[in-house]
Amino acid sequence: MVSRFAPFRIKVVEPIRMSTRVERERFLKQAGFNLFGIDSESVLIDLLTDSGMSAMSARQWGALMQGDESYAGGASFRRFQAAVQDITGFEHVIPAHQGRAAERILFSVMCKPGDVVPGNTHFDTTRANIEHSGASAVNLLCGEALELSTAYAFKGNMDVAALQGTLDRFGRGRIPLVMLTVTNNSAGDQPVSMANLRAVKTVLARHGIPLFLDACRFSQNAYFIQQREAGYQRATVREIAREMFSLADGCTMSAKKDGLSNIGGFIALGDGELARRMKDVLILTEGFPTYGGLAGRDLEAIAIGLEEGLDDHYLQYHADLTRWLGERLSAVGVPIIQPPGGYAVFINASALLPHLPATAFPGHALAAELYLEAGIRTSATRFPSAHVPLREIDLVRLALPSRVYSTSHLEYVVEAVARVYQNRAAIGGLQMVYAPPVLQNFTARFARITRSTTDPDLELAAAITPRSHT
Ligand SMILES: Cc1ncc(COP(=O)(O)O)c(C=O)c1O
Repeated sequence: MVSRFAPFRIKVVEPIRMSTRVERERFLKQAGFNLFGIDSESVLIDLLTDSGMSAMSARQWGALMQGDESYAGGASFRRFQAAVQDITGFEHVIPAHQGRAAERILFSVMCKPGDVVPGNTHFDTTRANIEHSGASAVNLLCGEALELSTAYAFKGNMDVAALQGTLDRFGRGRIPLVMLTVTNNSAGDQPVSMANLRAVKTVLARHGIPLFLDACRFSQNAYFIQQREAGYQRATVREIAREMFSLADGCTMSAKKDGLSNIGGFIALGDGELARRMKDVLILTEGFPTYGGLAGRDLEAIAIGLEEGLDDHYLQYHADLTRWLGERLSAVGVPIIQPPGGYAVFINASALLPHLPATAFPGHALAAELYLEAGIRTSATRFPSAHVPLREIDLVRLALPSRVYSTSHLEYVVEAVARVYQNRAAIGGLQMVYAPPVLQNFTARFARITRSTTDPDLELAAAITPRSHT
């Protein structure tokens, strides 16, 4: 039974500015058809990302006033540290200003040029930080994940046989760690099962290789284990999360997701010597180990957000709202990755716009059309990033920031997507007119295609397609 009952009431509201289609056409052109370039006041429903966009609770707002802004030894850090230790069981807690800062510190300390870091699917910033350290990021995603329209329970899993093969090939000497991203965001926000975590851990233990979690959405992953994996129905999400962390040696975290905070992140781990080396890097770039690039008040908000994000009722509401959105879109014929994830629904833009080749950026074209039609901001991405065997598929992600939008907003989204779907044959493609050298998604610029889509210039543009999203 889908229960979309919101386990909170609203205390503060933020008005949404209405806009007309004519205005949005102008904004879109000014932004080079890249929705990252649109002013937020010109967006009606912002589904660009969940990251850092959640609504804080009254308790979090209250705690901001308790922030201890001392440079060293602040009480806010101790409260934050205690919350992270309690949830993860890891002794050493290193704050950072967001997830990618934690990743940079982790990989710069653990990796050297020539190393290989296997993962289920590395998130864009994770991959970039691994590569920045001179190592290579390898995705070993399970086969079920490639069947986009089939609803397997744990499509975020790692292919354990492929992991074994990678270990045999490169050995302990070249694999300093393995990383599992929970939930697996870049593979359609799909969960990883406890059985898979345990199988990965067993293989790694034989080789003495540490396992780290990219724990951005650990509580949503734990919730899916509770709902879908045999033997966990009676456990609380918190207990399941603790078991997940007990199979790992450490984690990185962006508190902007399941920390229900607007900024922040951390590394947590058991190895004291590694933690000491990471703190040395932290001091160089983020700050003293008791604030790590954050204000004391941010640490307070995260400590509470982590707890609130583990509440079973909240998690049920959030996952059910996402599932409801996915089911409604499917019901009108929109092709999506099945099943919907914990926070996002991914529309298969390549399938929805079969008349547009990859060279005409169907994902970006669909995202632009949704904005034009209804002021809805989404993000375009490709699946599966860095998987060569399968033709890349353009996706449009509808991400639900926590505690921000109601069912009435999402009804509006469903109606708008349905209208766009009805008129899909008329949607034209885009061509990339500016391709920045790094993290292209944020600043690439596009224009409507007015020439033949078989133009060789467009083939060239496709080769430099942006991938990253947040
Ligand atoms: C799975 C995953 N890992 C890491 C990150 C990076 O976190 P941050 O945006 O806080 O740097 C993200 C952000 O979206 C993510 O989804």
